[in-house]
Amino acid sequence: MTAICAHQEEMGLDGRPQTPIIGPMPSYDEVFENNRRWVAEKTDADPDFFKRLSGGQDPDFLFIGCADSRVPANEIMGLIPGEVFVHRNVANLVVNTDINAQSVIEYAVAHLSVKHIVVCGHYGCGGVKAAMQAADLGILNGWLREIRDVYRLYQNELDAIEDDEARYRRLIELNVQEQAINVIKTAVVQKTYLSEGYPEVHGWVYDISDGVLHDLKIPFESILAKIREIYDLGTS
Ligand code: CO
Repeated sequence: MTAICAHQEEMGLDGRPQTPIIGPMPSYDEVFENNRRWVAEKTDADPDFFKRLSGGQDPDFLFIGCADSRVPANEIMGLIPGEVFVHRNVANLVVNTDINAQSVIEYAVAHLSVKHIVVCGHYGCGGVKAAMQAADLGILNGWLREIRDVYRLYQNELDAIEDDEARYRRLIELNVQEQAINVIKTAVVQKTYLSEGYPEVHGWVYDISDGVLHDLKIPFESILAKIREIYDLGTS
């Protein structure tokens, strides 16, 4: 396997490390060789592994993360196939009119009965960095505006942070928090939580530079109570 090592300290606007990635990328054919080796390893360790998985899925977690190639949901959570339902997009956004994300949440809560929904951002996020800079990025403008809206909500706090890197990291955290709140605004989450006691919604930030996951410990109960003053969809 090729070791891929990205240095996060110096990020370009596109989220690419300015220092080169060490080692060659696997070729197209190598991916299939890797797959055959992985199948052999799995079935050697557990002959019924794929048979069992093909019987269905019953994951406890929904992970909503960034599409960034350095944030593999299963791997950073130490979970095997079948244990986490995954949705990823640029900058881990949960947009009300995004039928993709909304369908994932609906399916995960109403049909898979997940117990935890995690919005996971990551330090060094190119999407968040792009939203902090003045540039016309075409169709990305509308998507990244969601992050600019988060900035506007917390402008006083963010503008008071003099260090650019610290302000960038804080916006990444606040974006996670706001996207988690967007999850809590959905009818299926409110209704299911009030009737079943789950799912809980969490906000995490993954640090690519050391591999550590940070739980922002978003106060789910108090946020739910507060937003239900306006976004109450759970009683009808
Ligand atoms: Co990202």
